Amino acid sequence: MIENIRLNLQRVIDESYDILIGYGLLENIPLDLKRNPLGNKYAIITDSNLKDLYGEKLLERFREENLNACLIDVPAGEESKSLDTVGYLVGKLLENNLDRKSAVIALGGGVVGDLSGFTASIFMRGIPYIQVPTTLLAQVDSSIGGKTAVDTIEGKNLIGAFYQPKKVYIDPSLLKTLPKREFISGLAEVIKYGVIYDRKFFEYLEKNINEIKRLNEEKLLHIIRTSCIIKKSVVEEDPRDENKRAILNYGHTPAHALERLSGYKCLHGEAVSVGMRISGWIAVRKGFWSLDEWERQNRLIKSFGLPLEMDFEIEEFIKALYYDKKVEGGTLMFVFPKCIGEMASINGKYKIPVSEKELRIFLRELANN
Ligand SMILES: NC(=O)c1ccc[n+]([C@@H]2O[C@H](COP(=O)([O-])OP(=O)(O)OC[C@H]3O[C@@H](n4cnc5c(N)ncnc54)[C@H](O)[C@@H]3O)[C@@H](O)[C@H]2O)c1
Repeated sequence: MIENIRLNLQRVIDESYDILIGYGLLENIPLDLKRNPLGNKYAIITDSNLKDLYGEKLLERFREENLNACLIDVPAGEESKSLDTVGYLVGKLLENNLDRKSAVIALGGGVVGDLSGFTASIFMRGIPYIQVPTTLLAQVDSSIGGKTAVDTIEGKNLIGAFYQPKKVYIDPSLLKTLPKREFISGLAEVIKYGVIYDRKFFEYLEKNINEIKRLNEEKLLHIIRTSCIIKKSVVEEDPRDENKRAILNYGHTPAHALERLSGYKCLHGEAVSVGMRISGWIAVRKGFWSLDEWERQNRLIKSFGLPLEMDFEIEEFIKALYYDKKVEGGTLMFVFPKCIGEMASINGKYKIPVSEKELRIFLRELANN
């Protein structure tokens, strides 16, 4: 006889959180935490570039508010997104006497955000954390949605957890010190939001290219706010990435392969730009999207100073595509625009299979274009 004991876990945990956006927000974080405490002690995790730029000052502000805090930094760069660094951070948290009632502050770009979020998710089986994104990419994308991860030698983000932050504080004034190339790279995700979700926003970007590039405060605030609203809407619909959330990965399947082939020398947004040209072309050739709109997308990408092409060998590229987490049962899956502002689906499913044979033909066409 087989006995079946069922453990029911259908209780809905409230994981809602606020995303606050405003110039000068950084220095108000400690006061906000004093009013709405998250823990008995805070560990600010940052990287080696940001430690002097913002980390020390933030630590001082915590102390001015009589909050118990420490500052921990890791070397800047993707190499820090590793299990070794997680081990290092856990050691530092213990050394600084953090416990189950403490909280983590992730002060940095996507690397610090992903790494700190993952560390918070496993430290003492999970302590709260907040995101303080400092790059455009992190402010419009990675700090929202609770995807945390580290890389392994086999690939990016292969170890991780869904673990939502308790709050996200976005201060666009931090972008003034961000290297120009990093800022432009972040704009790729912003363009992506226009293509996948919001035609009016796409048109807004077309009309405001120069002011956005010059970091005009009002325009910057608008693009960050709109991007956050789009991301949160998609995440709310599909928090566990089961269907709709895949649209956020438009252009990312080829982008991940390109990043891999470049030895992670190109920036994420640069690869996403080229990836949107490639995915968009496949969308056109499979009859989902119009040639006119594909060209319009590419013009916008180019106007922001982002690349549309990268050198790669087609067979190597196809091989690299298989490392993507969207590969299902050995089949390559893509997401495609239907028109600017909306993504295509087949029977309600957004991930659409593409055979290697088709892919080879389309990639050759693009190479000769
Ligand atoms: N979790 C998600 O949903 C998600 C989404 C997209 C990307 N990501 C991850 O994000 C990572 C890339 O993030 P990124 O592009 O922010 O890179 P990053 O975190 O490496 O930051 C880029 C560089 O800019 C520096 N920097 C950051 N903010 C600065 C500032 N205000 N002034 C001066 N210098 C500053 C950093 O020190 C670093 O050298 C990747 O690991 C990617 O996998 C995660």
